[in-house]
Amino acid sequence: MKLGTPLSPTAIKVMLLGSGELGKEVVIELQRLGVETIAVDRYADAPAQQVAHRAHVIDMTDAKALRALVEREKPHLVVPEIEAIATDALLRIEEDGLATVIPTARAAHITMNRERIRRLAAEELGLPTSPYAFCSSLDELQAATAKIGFPCFVKPVMSSSGKGQSRLKSADDVAKGWDKALTAGRVKEARVIVEGEIRFDFEITQLTVRAVAGTQFCEPIGHVQVDGDYVESWQPQAMTPAALEKARDIAGSITAALGGHGIFGVELFVKGGEVWFSEVSPRPHDTGLVTLVSQYQSEFALHARAILGLPVSAALASPGASAVIYGGVDAKGIAFDGVADALDVPDSELRLFGKPESYVKRRMGVALARGRSTDEARARAKLAAGKVRPG
Ligand SMILES: Nc1ncnc2c1ncn2[C@@H]1O[C@H](COP(=O)(O)OP(=O)(O)O)[C@@H](O)[C@H]1O
Ligand SMILES: [Mg+2]
Repeated sequence: MKLGTPLSPTAIKVMLLGSGELGKEVVIELQRLGVETIAVDRYADAPAQQVAHRAHVIDMTDAKALRALVEREKPHLVVPEIEAIATDALLRIEEDGLATVIPTARAAHITMNRERIRRLAAEELGLPTSPYAFCSSLDELQAATAKIGFPCFVKPVMSSSGKGQSRLKSADDVAKGWDKALTAGRVKEARVIVEGEIRFDFEITQLTVRAVAGTQFCEPIGHVQVDGDYVESWQPQAMTPAALEKARDIAGSITAALGGHGIFGVELFVKGGEVWFSEVSPRPHDTGLVTLVSQYQSEFALHARAILGLPVSAALASPGASAVIYGGVDAKGIAFDGVADALDVPDSELRLFGKPESYVKRRMGVALARGRSTDEARARAKLAAGKVRPG
């Protein structure tokens, strides 16, 4: 692929489907290489739209609207940034040769549904996972939880960021968990996965980049999740050589099965020398925001390079950490106090995403920091995040 001049006939055009904070960093990396960028989201002035050449507001779960936009804009590459996309339209766009879908339309299609990706990982590839079952009614869920045991997790097969997810402690929680999954699932279909709880020592994101010259693994990223949402991440997470080797075997296997070029966030649970596959995003991962300070090429730079067929390096530059800054208020056009104090923290950086509307639990920014160790980096990132006061 020969890079050209944006807004001219030689332009390489990339369309992002989803324009959040992760997409914003991808667009910035593409802009640096003179790529013409088109940012799509369901609302106006989304973060990536503020730095792209053009922006469109459509319902990306509407297959017709998505197809029409791709036919109009004629991008070379279509880059999903979120799960909630009409992936049947992506399959046809790829089949008809309209654009290359990153990493592949099939990867987007499989990973947006917990049943498809779990069956691929556990049943086709034989990767270790939590015990699981799929249920389409409360009766089925009651039977499945009795078999798998408690505590267990119930999740709508189509949902992300912890939405509709519950941890059930006993049979008394099953009906509540079913109701929650039904109201929060992305589609009307009543279908959930129930997973036995893995009592892991820690969980990691194994960022894996598939590029023309082969596959590379980033240093593992440790993270803390609260209610299915990440609040803190760091790199590298210390691991035994045996566990690291298993993590990379699993990540290599699942990403090879999904194919294509780009970055993948493979979520794994680790206990001693044992590693379990949890899920995978065929795109940058939110816990990977830390790589903006910890790697020479962030996960966003790696994604941009890999999808353009360029060389990549997953090397670590320094231990680093990220800490999420929540809105804390429900309001539009908020302002941030304490930014100077935050940036007084040694080796720290901020990203304020520019989202037009804040909610109490909406991620509005992130503090990043380097350190001599991940402990030092984590302390700095948390300190910096705590100094920012949105309001
Ligand atoms: N089977 C499980 N055992 C232990 N912890 C789990 C399990 N499933 C989910 N979790 C916890 O919940 C978090 C979110 O679950 P995940 O399946 O990744 O949902 P999402 O797609 O919303 O990110 C995980 O990162 C982990 O901390
Ligand atoms: Mg997850």
